[in-house]
Amino acid sequence: MEGEDELRKLNGEVPAPRDRDVEDDDPLVLSSQALAALHEFLADQNKTVSSTPPASSVAGEEDSDKVELVTEDWRLSQFWYEPETADTVAEEVVTLSSRLSGCRVACIACPTLYVYLKKRDPSLQVQLLEYDMRFERYGSEFTFYDYNEPEDLPLQLKHSFHIIVADPPYLSRECLERVSQTISFLASPVDPLLLLLTGEVQRDRAAELLGVRPCVFKPHHSSKLGNEFRLFISYDPGTRLGGLEEDS
Ligand SMILES: C[S@@+](CC[C@H](N)C(=O)[O-])C[C@H]1O[C@@H](n2cnc3c(N)ncnc32)[C@H](O)[C@@H]1O
Repeated sequence: MEGEDELRKLNGEVPAPRDRDVEDDDPLVLSSQALAALHEFLADQNKTVSSTPPASSVAGEEDSDKVELVTEDWRLSQFWYEPETADTVAEEVVTLSSRLSGCRVACIACPTLYVYLKKRDPSLQVQLLEYDMRFERYGSEFTFYDYNEPEDLPLQLKHSFHIIVADPPYLSRECLERVSQTISFLASPVDPLLLLLTGEVQRDRAAELLGVRPCVFKPHHSSKLGNEFRLFISYDPGTRLGGLEEDS
């Protein structure tokens, strides 16, 4: 217990008491319990969880169907898609990409989709833009991204993506405006295709900022969330994704 309390203080969850006898400059010394708890916490953060796409959706042997995901970190607003959702969106992106030669795909803050896309088609050119450095494990296909600095990105990414999928971390206007700036930075000048996964509450702002409309298919998350989520897109999918929602 003592160790857990100390760990909570280190995480900033419990303010450390201002003790008259403790000088601010004193080196921080952890008890053995706190160190053990810290190691356990850090190991947990790097654990992967297996996600199994719906049967027969991914080509390959049964054992290789599993998709490895890191554990969700709720402090970063991380809520992973249900396998069926990740698989449906990945299938749509692969279908779109097969019609475009030299297609490049950008995944903004949707690491699960990145994993499902690479699982479906390892040769697909996908760039994952993410804040969580655990995804550095994807090497040159990972780019650090903070939506607060929407255009603080390598110049070689500018206007070079034909398909952009974004799942902003927050449901605020400010967050969507900044992510929209990033989308404009990344989008190819010729007919870029956009898929935005976010809350229904963003419907009007998404239409205004990005010209996207909801389709009938609705994304779901492994952790049940209170907000209804939608997939907004910038093109006509025909009958795929259940089609575009009719105007009401
Ligand atoms: C709502 S989740 C979307 C994840 C998606 N549902 C998936 O399964 O891949 C939002 C993502 O934004 C990332 N994120 C958190 N803070 C961020 C920031 N300041 N800038 C950019 N992305 C951030 C999180 O790491 C998380 O992957």
